[in-house]
Amino acid sequence: MSPIKNDDLLNVAVEAGLAASNIIMEALGEPRIADHKGKTDLVTVTDHLSENTIKSIIRSSFPDHNFLAEESGQDSTGSEYTWIVDPLDGTTNFVHGYPSFAVSIGLFYKNEPLVAVVVEMPHTKLYSAVKSEGAWCEGRPISCSETFSVEKSLLITGFGYEHGDLWEQNMTLFKHFTNTTQGVRRLGAAAVDICHVASGHADGFWEYDLKPWDTAAGILIAKEAGCVISNMAGNPCSIYDNNILITNPYIHEKLLNEIKSIRTDL
Ligand code: IPD
Ligand code: CA
Ligand code: CA
Repeated sequence: MSPIKNDDLLNVAVEAGLAASNIIMEALGEPRIADHKGKTDLVTVTDHLSENTIKSIIRSSFPDHNFLAEESGQDSTGSEYTWIVDPLDGTTNFVHGYPSFAVSIGLFYKNEPLVAVVVEMPHTKLYSAVKSEGAWCEGRPISCSETFSVEKSLLITGFGYEHGDLWEQNMTLFKHFTNTTQGVRRLGAAAVDICHVASGHADGFWEYDLKPWDTAAGILIAKEAGCVISNMAGNPCSIYDNNILITNPYIHEKLLNEIKSIRTDL
Protein backbone atom coordinates (compact mmCIF):
# COMPACT_ATOMS: atom_id res chain seq x y z
CA MET A 1 0.00 0.00 0.00
CA SER A 2 1.15 3.51 -0.76
CA PRO A 3 2.53 5.25 2.35
CA ILE A 4 1.02 8.55 1.13
CA LYS A 5 -2.78 8.75 1.39
CA ASN A 6 -4.53 8.33 -1.96
CA ASP A 7 -6.67 11.40 -1.26
CA ASP A 8 -3.58 13.56 -0.78
CA LEU A 9 -2.14 12.32 -4.09
CA LEU A 10 -5.47 12.83 -5.89
CA ASN A 11 -5.88 16.37 -4.51
CA VAL A 12 -2.49 17.39 -5.84
CA ALA A 13 -3.20 15.77 -9.22
CA VAL A 14 -6.51 17.67 -9.43
CA GLU A 15 -4.86 20.96 -8.45
CA ALA A 16 -2.16 20.49 -11.09
CA GLY A 17 -4.67 19.40 -13.76
CA LEU A 18 -6.96 22.37 -13.17
CA ALA A 19 -4.10 24.89 -13.07
CA ALA A 20 -2.82 23.52 -16.38
CA SER A 21 -6.27 23.55 -17.95
CA ASN A 22 -6.71 27.21 -16.94
CA ILE A 23 -3.47 28.06 -18.73
CA ILE A 24 -4.60 26.18 -21.84
CA MET A 25 -8.07 27.77 -21.86
CA GLU A 26 -6.56 31.26 -21.52
CA ALA A 27 -4.21 30.53 -24.43
CA LEU A 28 -7.18 29.46 -26.56
CA GLY A 29 -8.23 33.12 -26.70
CA GLU A 30 -4.85 34.15 -28.21
CA PRO A 31 -3.20 33.29 -31.55
CA ARG A 32 -1.62 29.85 -31.21
CA ILE A 33 1.72 29.40 -32.94
CA ALA A 34 3.02 25.89 -33.38
CA ASP A 35 6.53 24.53 -33.83
CA HIS A 36 7.03 21.18 -35.51
CA LYS A 37 8.46 18.18 -33.63
CA GLY A 38 7.84 16.16 -36.80
CA LYS A 39 6.08 16.74 -40.14
CA THR A 40 2.63 16.83 -38.50
CA ASP A 41 3.60 16.61 -34.79
CA LEU A 42 3.01 20.07 -33.33
CA VAL A 43 4.11 21.70 -30.07
CA THR A 44 3.32 25.17 -28.70
CA VAL A 45 4.57 27.35 -25.85
CA THR A 46 1.36 26.34 -24.07
CA ASP A 47 2.45 22.67 -24.02
CA HIS A 48 5.63 23.73 -22.19
CA LEU A 49 3.90 26.19 -19.87
CA SER A 50 1.31 23.59 -18.92
CA GLU A 51 3.99 20.96 -18.25
CA ASN A 52 6.11 23.33 -16.11
CA THR A 53 3.04 24.31 -14.08
CA ILE A 54 2.03 20.68 -13.47
CA LYS A 55 5.53 19.69 -12.43
CA SER A 56 6.02 22.64 -10.11
CA ILE A 57 2.66 22.07 -8.35
CA ILE A 58 3.39 18.37 -7.87
CA ARG A 59 6.98 19.07 -6.79
CA SER A 60 5.89 21.56 -4.15
CA SER A 61 4.03 18.71 -2.39
CA PHE A 62 6.20 15.75 -3.42
CA PRO A 63 9.73 17.02 -4.16
CA ASP A 64 11.30 13.56 -4.40
CA HIS A 65 8.91 11.92 -6.91
CA ASN A 66 9.92 10.87 -10.44
CA PHE A 67 8.46 12.36 -13.60
CA LEU A 68 7.99 11.14 -17.13
CA ALA A 69 6.57 14.09 -19.05
CA GLU A 70 6.13 14.48 -22.79
CA GLU A 71 8.10 17.69 -23.30
CA SER A 72 10.85 17.32 -20.68
CA GLY A 73 11.26 13.55 -20.64
CA GLN A 74 12.38 11.37 -17.76
CA ASP A 75 13.36 12.89 -14.44
CA SER A 76 14.26 10.09 -12.04
CA THR A 77 15.06 10.39 -8.35
CA GLY A 78 14.72 6.70 -7.45
CA SER A 79 11.29 7.24 -5.87
CA GLU A 80 8.61 4.54 -6.06
CA TYR A 81 6.19 7.21 -7.35
CA THR A 82 6.27 8.32 -10.99
CA TRP A 83 4.01 11.05 -12.39
CA ILE A 84 3.40 10.51 -16.11
CA VAL A 85 2.24 13.72 -17.72
CA ASP A 86 0.82 14.79 -21.05
CA PRO A 87 0.54 18.56 -20.54
CA LEU A 88 -1.66 18.99 -23.61
CA ASP A 89 -3.10 15.94 -25.32
CA GLY A 90 -4.55 16.89 -28.69
CA THR A 91 -2.18 19.77 -29.50
CA THR A 92 -3.27 19.77 -33.15
CA ASN A 93 -6.89 20.22 -32.08
CA PHE A 94 -5.87 22.99 -29.67
CA VAL A 95 -3.92 24.82 -32.40
CA HIS A 96 -6.92 24.69 -34.75
CA GLY A 97 -9.50 25.33 -32.04
CA TYR A 98 -11.14 21.93 -32.63
CA PRO A 99 -12.95 21.06 -29.39
CA SER A 100 -11.18 17.95 -28.11
CA PHE A 101 -8.02 18.30 -26.03
CA ALA A 102 -6.96 17.57 -22.47
CA VAL A 103 -4.43 17.50 -19.69
CA SER A 104 -3.51 13.97 -18.61
CA ILE A 105 -1.77 13.12 -15.32
CA GLY A 106 -1.23 9.53 -14.24
CA LEU A 107 0.57 8.58 -11.04
CA PHE A 108 2.22 5.16 -10.89
CA TYR A 109 3.33 3.61 -7.59
CA LYS A 110 5.73 0.67 -7.87
CA ASN A 111 5.01 0.59 -11.62
CA GLU A 112 1.23 0.24 -11.15
CA PRO A 113 -1.34 2.97 -11.86
CA LEU A 114 -2.58 4.48 -8.58
CA VAL A 115 -4.18 7.86 -9.28
CA ALA A 116 -5.36 9.47 -12.52
CA VAL A 117 -6.71 12.83 -13.63
CA VAL A 118 -7.76 13.87 -17.13
CA VAL A 119 -9.17 17.35 -17.67
CA GLU A 120 -11.13 17.43 -20.93
CA MET A 121 -11.45 20.81 -22.68
CA PRO A 122 -12.77 23.19 -23.92
CA HIS A 123 -16.06 22.14 -22.27
CA THR A 124 -14.16 21.41 -19.12
CA LYS A 125 -14.78 18.06 -17.46
CA LEU A 126 -12.57 16.56 -14.81
CA TYR A 127 -12.21 12.77 -14.90
CA SER A 128 -10.41 11.05 -12.05
CA ALA A 129 -9.73 7.58 -10.68
CA VAL A 130 -8.03 5.91 -7.75
CA LYS A 131 -6.95 2.26 -7.85
CA SER A 132 -9.66 -0.02 -6.38
CA GLU A 133 -11.81 3.00 -5.40
CA GLY A 134 -13.54 3.92 -8.67
CA ALA A 135 -13.64 6.42 -11.50
CA TRP A 136 -15.49 9.72 -11.60
CA CYS A 137 -16.43 12.55 -13.94
CA GLU A 138 -16.89 15.83 -12.11
CA GLY A 139 -17.07 13.84 -8.86
CA ARG A 140 -19.85 11.49 -10.02
CA PRO A 141 -19.07 7.78 -10.51
CA ILE A 142 -18.76 6.67 -14.12
CA SER A 143 -19.02 3.26 -15.71
CA CYS A 144 -18.56 1.87 -19.20
CA SER A 145 -21.41 0.99 -21.54
CA GLU A 146 -23.33 -2.28 -21.65
CA THR A 147 -23.57 -2.51 -25.43
CA PHE A 148 -23.48 -6.21 -26.13
CA SER A 149 -22.88 -6.53 -29.84
CA VAL A 150 -20.24 -5.17 -32.18
CA GLU A 151 -22.99 -4.21 -34.66
CA LYS A 152 -24.56 -1.87 -32.10
CA SER A 153 -21.29 -0.42 -30.85
CA LEU A 154 -19.71 2.99 -31.41
CA LEU A 155 -15.91 2.88 -31.50
CA ILE A 156 -13.10 5.43 -31.41
CA THR A 157 -9.58 5.25 -32.80
CA GLY A 158 -6.71 7.58 -33.61
CA PHE A 159 -3.84 7.82 -36.06
CA GLY A 160 -0.36 8.75 -34.86
CA TYR A 161 2.14 10.99 -36.59
CA GLU A 162 4.21 8.14 -38.07
CA HIS A 163 2.64 7.04 -41.34
CA GLY A 164 4.21 3.57 -41.53
CA ASP A 165 2.94 -0.02 -41.68
CA LEU A 166 0.88 0.21 -38.48
CA TRP A 167 -0.83 3.32 -39.79
CA GLU A 168 -1.78 1.41 -42.96
CA GLN A 169 -2.94 -1.48 -40.79
CA ASN A 170 -5.14 0.87 -38.81
CA MET A 171 -6.68 2.24 -42.01
CA THR A 172 -7.77 -1.34 -42.76
CA LEU A 173 -9.31 -1.71 -39.29
CA PHE A 174 -10.93 1.71 -39.54
CA LYS A 175 -12.60 0.69 -42.80
CA HIS A 176 -13.64 -2.70 -41.44
CA PHE A 177 -15.19 -1.39 -38.22
CA THR A 178 -16.83 1.55 -39.97
CA ASN A 179 -18.58 -1.12 -41.99
CA THR A 180 -19.48 -3.47 -39.12
CA THR A 181 -20.38 -1.10 -36.23
CA GLN A 182 -22.55 1.99 -35.83
CA GLY A 183 -19.46 4.11 -36.51
CA VAL A 184 -15.83 4.83 -35.73
CA ARG A 185 -14.91 8.29 -34.45
CA ARG A 186 -11.47 9.88 -34.75
CA LEU A 187 -11.26 12.91 -32.48
CA GLY A 188 -7.52 13.49 -32.00
CA ALA A 189 -6.94 13.37 -28.24
CA ALA A 190 -6.36 9.86 -26.93
CA ALA A 191 -6.87 10.75 -23.25
CA VAL A 192 -10.30 12.20 -24.08
CA ASP A 193 -11.16 9.20 -26.29
CA ILE A 194 -10.42 6.78 -23.45
CA CYS A 195 -12.47 8.82 -20.94
CA HIS A 196 -15.40 8.75 -23.38
CA VAL A 197 -15.26 4.96 -23.38
CA ALA A 198 -14.90 4.91 -19.59
CA SER A 199 -18.03 7.00 -19.23
CA GLY A 200 -20.06 4.92 -21.71
CA HIS A 201 -20.35 7.54 -24.49
CA ALA A 202 -18.59 5.07 -26.78
CA ASP A 203 -18.06 1.33 -26.45
CA GLY A 204 -14.44 0.82 -27.42
CA PHE A 205 -11.16 2.49 -28.36
CA TRP A 206 -8.02 1.20 -30.05
CA GLU A 207 -4.89 2.87 -31.29
CA TYR A 208 -1.33 2.13 -32.43
CA ASP A 209 1.84 4.01 -31.57
CA LEU A 210 0.62 5.87 -28.50
CA LYS A 211 3.14 7.06 -25.93
CA PRO A 212 3.03 6.34 -22.16
CA TRP A 213 1.75 9.84 -21.35
CA ASP A 214 -1.22 9.38 -23.74
CA THR A 215 -2.59 6.41 -21.75
CA ALA A 216 -1.10 6.56 -18.21
CA ALA A 217 -4.15 8.27 -16.70
CA GLY A 218 -6.75 6.90 -19.11
CA ILE A 219 -6.07 3.22 -18.42
CA LEU A 220 -6.80 3.61 -14.71
CA ILE A 221 -9.96 5.65 -15.37
CA ALA A 222 -11.10 3.01 -17.87
CA LYS A 223 -10.25 0.06 -15.62
CA GLU A 224 -12.02 1.57 -12.62
CA ALA A 225 -15.04 2.26 -14.83
CA GLY A 226 -15.26 -1.45 -15.69
CA CYS A 227 -13.51 -1.53 -19.06
CA VAL A 228 -11.34 -4.39 -20.25
CA ILE A 229 -7.87 -3.39 -21.44
CA SER A 230 -5.47 -5.46 -23.55
CA ASN A 231 -3.21 -5.13 -26.51
CA MET A 232 -4.62 -5.80 -29.97
CA ALA A 233 -3.69 -9.48 -29.70
CA GLY A 234 -5.66 -9.85 -26.47
CA ASN A 235 -2.66 -10.02 -24.14
CA PRO A 236 -2.13 -7.87 -21.06
CA CYS A 237 -0.51 -4.61 -22.08
CA SER A 238 1.39 -1.76 -20.53
CA ILE A 239 1.54 1.94 -21.33
CA TYR A 240 4.85 1.20 -23.08
CA ASP A 241 3.27 -1.12 -25.68
CA ASN A 242 2.59 0.23 -29.14
CA ASN A 243 -1.05 -0.81 -29.39
CA ILE A 244 -4.02 -0.88 -27.05
CA LEU A 245 -7.65 -1.97 -27.04
CA ILE A 246 -10.05 -0.64 -24.37
CA THR A 247 -13.70 -1.67 -24.45
CA ASN A 248 -16.67 -2.56 -22.33
CA PRO A 249 -16.49 -6.20 -21.11
CA TYR A 250 -19.13 -7.48 -23.56
CA ILE A 251 -17.51 -6.67 -26.91
CA HIS A 252 -13.83 -7.16 -26.05
CA GLU A 253 -13.53 -10.79 -27.13
CA LYS A 254 -15.74 -10.18 -30.15
CA LEU A 255 -13.59 -7.29 -31.35
CA LEU A 256 -10.42 -9.32 -30.79
CA ASN A 257 -11.80 -12.09 -32.98
CA GLU A 258 -12.59 -9.65 -35.78
CA ILE A 259 -9.20 -7.98 -35.43
CA LYS A 260 -7.48 -11.38 -35.59
CA SER A 261 -9.33 -12.26 -38.79
CA ILE A 262 -8.14 -9.15 -40.64
CA ARG A 263 -4.74 -8.27 -39.17
CA THR A 264 -1.68 -9.68 -40.85
CA ASP A 265 0.83 -8.68 -38.18
CA LEU A 266 -0.39 -10.91 -35.30
C1 IPD B 1 -1.72 12.77 -29.75
C2 IPD B 1 -3.21 12.54 -29.54
C3 IPD B 1 -3.83 11.82 -30.73
C4 IPD B 1 -3.11 10.52 -31.03
C5 IPD B 1 -1.63 10.75 -31.21
C6 IPD B 1 -1.05 11.44 -29.97
P1 IPD B 1 -0.49 14.90 -28.65
O1 IPD B 1 -1.13 13.38 -28.63
O2 IPD B 1 -3.45 11.79 -28.37
O3 IPD B 1 -5.16 11.50 -30.48
O4 IPD B 1 -3.67 9.98 -32.20
O5 IPD B 1 -0.99 9.52 -31.41
O6 IPD B 1 0.33 11.64 -30.14
O7 IPD B 1 0.70 14.84 -29.54
O8 IPD B 1 -1.54 15.81 -29.14
O9 IPD B 1 -0.15 15.07 -27.21
CA1 CA C 1 -0.72 13.00 -26.30
CA1 CA D 1 0.93 16.33 -25.76
